[in-house]
Amino acid sequence: MKEAGYEVAVFAGDGTGPEVVREGLRVLDALAEGSPAPWHCTQYPGGGQYFLRTGREWEPEAAAAAGTADAILVGAVGWPGATLPNGDLAGRALVLGLREGLDLYANVRPCKLYPGVRHRISGEYREVWAPKNVDMVIVRENTEDLYTPARGRLRRGGETEVAIDTRIITRKGSERVIRYAFELARARSRGAPEDGVRRLTCVDKSNVMEGCRFFRETFDRVGAEYPEVERDYAYVDAFAQWLVRNPEHYNVVVATNMMGDIITDLAAVLQGGMGFASGGNIGTEHAMFEPVHGSAPKYAGKNQVNPFATFFAVEQMLRWLGSRRGDERLVRQADRLERSLARTLAEGTTRTYDQGGTLKTGEAGDRVTAAIRSEPR
Ligand code: IPM
Ligand code: MN
Repeated sequence: MKEAGYEVAVFAGDGTGPEVVREGLRVLDALAEGSPAPWHCTQYPGGGQYFLRTGREWEPEAAAAAGTADAILVGAVGWPGATLPNGDLAGRALVLGLREGLDLYANVRPCKLYPGVRHRISGEYREVWAPKNVDMVIVRENTEDLYTPARGRLRRGGETEVAIDTRIITRKGSERVIRYAFELARARSRGAPEDGVRRLTCVDKSNVMEGCRFFRETFDRVGAEYPEVERDYAYVDAFAQWLVRNPEHYNVVVATNMMGDIITDLAAVLQGGMGFASGGNIGTEHAMFEPVHGSAPKYAGKNQVNPFATFFAVEQMLRWLGSRRGDERLVRQADRLERSLARTLAEGTTRTYDQGGTLKTGEAGDRVTAAIRSEPR
């Protein structure tokens, strides 16, 4: 911890990223009012649009700051036409690059439907999707699987003949993320909404794939150390339907990278859509937090997108930093932020376009900062 407090490196990034990050920073300011802030935020440019202007995804100082910061907050990256010479997304350095470079091995995606929020399933508001039934955390492996650079093309005579992506599942990569998930499942005393059981569900395709069989073996081996946690298994295809049909069954879910990428977006529908979905990218030394909705170019500059995903990312960040440093002040602020968010949402009137409302990004931020000010510290 530096003199000015914990250092947070902030990357607003592309598209709607700056709009939601602006609100996220207002929320941090509101939390700090009345006493010296235990944190200090520094913004750095970077991303796909920055790449189009400068030919660089970010500056070396920004990369270095990310490596030394106590926590990192990223808005969104990706912009149409912003592509690196090798075909990769320009701006990937800020998300995929940080995951690799800082070894942020666990992608932690809370999926909770708060009272007052409309889930995004078309049709009636059914009992199984009621807020009390959607309260889980999906933990996705974040460094390997189909996301490694073990990929390429075979070109013959200038024509691509074959494109290959290799799925890599390692003992180390599986073990640490599975252990993270067991720890989390044990710590969640509420358990699954259905029955209060501290359940951990392993999602894989071990009926077909070798990497998944290995992942499941590791799940069982590590799980033997956690007798308090119920071990549960689902093939990913079946999981896709059970998740929607019986969300109340799930407490914590663990999955490999690519399958985890897909099921977390599916799960976001249950929590009100991507406008509410935050993700923590967590390693042993570093962590990066982000709203996961992306840069939404269509909405950029319109002050229209939902800032709640960023508010939940800020909450996750404060909670992680506070518990990692044993600093109760941050954990209390995370609790206070969550109460303020829940209260604002419960009124059922803070609705941006994605919730069928007309509220602007900044107006949603006004409501939340007002709630924070009236929420006991
Ligand atoms: C996510 C995103 C990223 C991923 C993209 C932006 C590369 O979809 O965080 O889930 O695939 O991991
Ligand atoms: Mn994704």
